[in-house]
Amino acid sequence: MRLLVVFLVALFGLACCQGQDPFFWLMALRSRGYGPGALQADTTGGDCPAVCDCPPSFPVAMYCDDRGLQEVPYVPSRMKYVYLQYNKITRIRDDAFSNATRLIWVMLHRNQLRSDQISKKAFANLNSLERLYLDHNNLTQVPVNLPVSIRDLRLNNNKISKIETSSFKGMDNLTVLYLHANEIQDVGGVLKDLTSLTLLDLSNNHLKKVPQELPKMLHQLYMESNSIDTVPANFLSDFSQLQYVRMSHNALTDRGIPPNTFNVSGLVELDLSFNKLEKIPPVSASLEHLYLQANHIKEFSLSSFCSVVDIMNFSRLRVLRLGGNEISLHDMPSETGLCLRRASTIEI
Ligand SMILES: *[C@@H]1O[C@H](CO)[C@@H](O)[C@H](O)[C@H]1NC(C)=O
Ligand SMILES: *[C@@H]1O[C@H](CO)[C@@H](O)[C@H](O)[C@H]1NC(C)=O
Ligand SMILES: *[C@@H]1O[C@H](CO)[C@@H](O)[C@H](O)[C@H]1NC(C)=O
Ligand SMILES: *[C@@H]1O[C@H](CO)[C@@H](O)[C@H](O)[C@H]1NC(C)=O
Ligand SMILES: *[C@@H]1O[C@H](CO)[C@@H](O)[C@H](O)[C@H]1NC(C)=O
Repeated sequence: MRLLVVFLVALFGLACCQGQDPFFWLMALRSRGYGPGALQADTTGGDCPAVCDCPPSFPVAMYCDDRGLQEVPYVPSRMKYVYLQYNKITRIRDDAFSNATRLIWVMLHRNQLRSDQISKKAFANLNSLERLYLDHNNLTQVPVNLPVSIRDLRLNNNKISKIETSSFKGMDNLTVLYLHANEIQDVGGVLKDLTSLTLLDLSNNHLKKVPQELPKMLHQLYMESNSIDTVPANFLSDFSQLQYVRMSHNALTDRGIPPNTFNVSGLVELDLSFNKLEKIPPVSASLEHLYLQANHIKEFSLSSFCSVVDIMNFSRLRVLRLGGNEISLHDMPSETGLCLRRASTIEI
């Protein structure tokens, strides 16, 4: 049953990256002859390393996860999906994937990969690679020569401290980039040309400031648990799609936030909890979720939500969290109900 689930996930993933028809995976199933009831084993699977499973009903996938492996086994050239997670792999040799140039997914998370033990050519020929999961390893650098075809790159929970300027060069289709839980102090401008990037997770690093020149198509920007104390003026105003910004557990102060920084339309959720703010920063009337708990806020300024309060002008805020600050219910002005008329939760 587990295999079947993984298999369906694999096909669904394919569908998701085609980005068109949500039923593409079903069409793919049919066109490959996997109609209803056709999931029984057949004998046309092809060769497979003894330590792995290559289900004959899905001959382009190789399951080698959680088998105590220390090396990447031979990957036959027909493979598109290879699952190597939860092993003890520390190195990747030159020829590990040299014959498997059709690979679309390589799952190598939860191993002990070391940057100095990954061949510079390891991934270089995988021109169809779309997902590469290298999270929860012992990497200190982003591997070099990664294919530019990658769409989903996971490097979180490693020991990466520095990112080379060429690391993500040419990755025009990169959509998801996980870099959280590393030791990154600064990313410089290396992300700015990632024109398709929609989700960037830089949380749990050692950032002291917001990276300059973030890619402009981001929908989600996560920078919580860093040491950021200031943000650049207008740093959110150039994004056209940004909806979720998380900056909790940083060192933000009022002085570090230029006026109107967070008053940008389009934003749905803003998390500034666990910082050092003394005032509620002005936010857009279209914001729906605002988290400000565990700051040093001393006044409930309704003008941060509604510059004008009347029947036509009100905030779309639904959830406002203000617990763990220096205010109480008595500090809420009487027009609060008119301005925050959409709010279902206000925590003080
Ligand atoms: C690659 O495939 C060819 C033929 O398909 C085979 O002869 C060769 O041994 C394979 N290389 C590796 C490294 O397995
Ligand atoms: C990887 O890191 C873990 C935890 O820090 C450590 O126990 C292990 O020995 C490391 N493995 C290698 C190959 O460096
Ligand atoms: C990005 O995806 C498009 C459409 O699938 C493809 O034509 C293009 O070659 C890809 N770009 C890169 C850099 O792989
Ligand atoms: C946000 O900016 C708009 C103009 O872009 C302004 O009309 C509005 O009053 C501002 N909101 C707050 C709460 O300052
Ligand atoms: C108040 O609402 C009116 C009518 O919708 C609109 O024209 C005006 O710009 C709003 N004022 C502010 C400050 O948002």
